[in-house]
Amino acid sequence: NQSIDQVSLQAFEWLTKFYHHVLAHAKEALIGKQYLEERGLSQEIINVYQIGFSPHANEVTTKFLEKKSFNLQHLASTGVFTRNDQNQIFDRFRGRIVFPIRNHLGKTVGYGGRSINGEEPKYLNSPESALFQKSKMLFNFDLARSEMKKKGQAILFEGYMDVITAAQAGITNGVATLGTSATEHQAALLKRYVDHVVICYDGDSAGFNAAYKAARLFLKAGCQIRVATLPDGSDPDAFIKQNGGERFKREVIEESSTYMGFVMTFLKKGYNLKVEADRIAYVNKIIEEIAGLNSAIDRDHYARELANEHQLSFETILNEVNHLNQARGN
Ligand code: CTP
Ligand code: MN
Ligand code: MN
Ligand code: MN
Ligand code: MN
Repeated sequence: NQSIDQVSLQAFEWLTKFYHHVLAHAKEALIGKQYLEERGLSQEIINVYQIGFSPHANEVTTKFLEKKSFNLQHLASTGVFTRNDQNQIFDRFRGRIVFPIRNHLGKTVGYGGRSINGEEPKYLNSPESALFQKSKMLFNFDLARSEMKKKGQAILFEGYMDVITAAQAGITNGVATLGTSATEHQAALLKRYVDHVVICYDGDSAGFNAAYKAARLFLKAGCQIRVATLPDGSDPDAFIKQNGGERFKREVIEESSTYMGFVMTFLKKGYNLKVEADRIAYVNKIIEEIAGLNSAIDRDHYARELANEHQLSFETILNEVNHLNQARGN
């Protein structure tokens, strides 16, 4: 007698093969194939990531699993399929490109489905289940683990396509959150394998804000972090497609900012530094950030930078920083 989870895992394994086969061979998947080609994905990387296509007609997918003797009602209750109001069973990914999401053992536990005809939402994901807990997993963790460990560094992306495009360009230590903000759990997971995390989110305000939150989270988990910033409106997959992996490594990863470097630029956006009151508020905010740094050398360094930037007395700033730092009990 098999557990519910084992049955779901087997269903996911068949489904992943099925979708991947459909992408390779079905006529209706041609647009999907062309789409991936236009996005620059090679056949090889499509195979590595077992990317697939879900047929438009629901029965094709459900019949496939029925033939394999799966109980569809049962699969619907575990999130492999979905039910509509009439209690009919549906494949939620119909007509979409399907990205299998694997757990740390390399087993598919869910999918991200991307629309290719402008249909919203752009990405649809499998629902949370006992097997698929988005806040506890990272996309590509299983494949990236050994490279992360070897390099001592992980790159944290926002999206599936960033991870896959980077991997195709030979950057194989990338992982991504699954459409939600980074969590403590994910930070702790990475910290078990690496000291260094480069946060590499999209070059838009959502990406910027999320990078700030993730940076604080990973610092708290004890990681050494850097924050990479991309040109406005770009994201890692677009940058790599346009400029190649070598330029991405040189201009984005290697030139990524330290936490404080990023914070000083990031927080500036919230203030009008031409206004005196804003300038003072900004300086105080940065002093708080500097006070939170663990290393006295770092605190000294950034206090000096802040003082120079705003023609303030270095001693006054450092005093304030150390005062706050002690109040925190550091
Ligand atoms: N996402 C989601 N639902 C959406 C939009 C995004 O779950 N409606 C998640 C997906 O996991 C996606 C990530 O957030 O990979 C990042 O979103 P975005 O930057 O918009 O997507 P990209 O990865 O850039 O996707 P693409 O290049 O295909 O447009
Ligand atoms: Mn180190
Ligand atoms: Mn984004
Ligand atoms: Mn993006
Ligand atoms: Mn993108």
